Amino acid sequence: MQSSKAEPSTAPVSLLDIGRGNAPLRDQVLRRLAEIYDAGCFIGGPDCKELERRVAEFCGVSHAIGCASGSDALLLALMAYDIGHGDEVICPSFTFFATASAVTRLGARPVFVDIDPVTFQIDPNLIAERITARTRAIIPVHLFGQCADMQPILDLASRYGLKVIEDAAQAIGAEYRGRPACSMGDVGCLSFYPTKNLGGCGDGGMMTALDPAVADRLRKLANHGMHPRYHHGEVGINSRLDTFQAAILAIKLEHLNGYAQARRTHADRYRETLADRSETLGISLPSEAPGCHHVWNQYTIRVHGDRRDAVRDALKSEGVGSEVYYPIPIHRQECYRSLGWPAGSLPHTETACREVLSLPVYPELTEAEQHRVIDALVRATSARRARAAA
Ligand SMILES: Cc1ncc(COP(=O)(O)O)c(C=O)c1O
Repeated sequence: MQSSKAEPSTAPVSLLDIGRGNAPLRDQVLRRLAEIYDAGCFIGGPDCKELERRVAEFCGVSHAIGCASGSDALLLALMAYDIGHGDEVICPSFTFFATASAVTRLGARPVFVDIDPVTFQIDPNLIAERITARTRAIIPVHLFGQCADMQPILDLASRYGLKVIEDAAQAIGAEYRGRPACSMGDVGCLSFYPTKNLGGCGDGGMMTALDPAVADRLRKLANHGMHPRYHHGEVGINSRLDTFQAAILAIKLEHLNGYAQARRTHADRYRETLADRSETLGISLPSEAPGCHHVWNQYTIRVHGDRRDAVRDALKSEGVGSEVYYPIPIHRQECYRSLGWPAGSLPHTETACREVLSLPVYPELTEAEQHRVIDALVRATSARRARAAA
């Protein structure tokens, strides 16, 4: 979060610098890990309970249940509603694979809906036409750190009797009309993968719920369907957030709002510096939708006109990191060929996959580094514009 005077530099700027973010917490984290190591309590225990309590409070819900990953959180959420063979679940295709694979793993069918091209989020206006007698749930994904347009989704869900499972893997701390991510649907799913806004030192995830009966079922399903001990009323899975991760995450949670604020400052700076030039450069900048509080897990621009990969290569040659989230829409993945979604069936999703480029926005990015990214981007995009125009 250091903010230094912008000076010309040629030092590389990576997309992420997890080590830099973790460094100030090193002693505190290692002290706690040593205590846990010595106590020999590696599964469950007070660290896990305390983290669950604090994440529930942070998300404005009554229950939070740790699990092994965001992918498992989605799987368990669907299991908690007995979703399986013959069922359909509506979700975006412009997302990380786990959103849809959780549905497939249970034998149900993901039904994809295109995105709003401005926000990148599932377009609620296109959901109703995909609802059938088999539809059981909708999984809105709060992509890149901003909430999906939840109110129309919640309205549709209540009209058709569907469950809403929020995929908030990228969006802890985001808000929609003053409501935190994970507090709006039936179950909220978080990922603590190291690149997330609240990232652990390994895999981890959490599910949130308002209904105590659903929370109990999630907890049981994440522990082999076991309750009481060695009694299995149903078949669950082994999916636990281990004690080391819980302890690390509890320490980082203290700083989460500060991290998000730093990301917001960087996003503001990209906008202030590039907004006037974006049209000339042939790019579009992301924005915060009205009523939303964005936490910028990713700062994702569009590079128009089939130039994205060339621009990315040019950034790389200047030592500036970037990434494409996501190059292939889920409905066009090899493993989903049998679902029969031809090219062109989700046009906004497919265009986004050709155009998106995520730039460094991690909290500890310095102002000088950000200016290096901006300068390199301006050079890369204007050179390619000039070439395209020639
Ligand atoms: C939108 C989305 N959903 C689900 C997941 C899965 O989370 P995990 O990697 O913790 O399994 C991720 C993580 O990358 C994600 O970005």
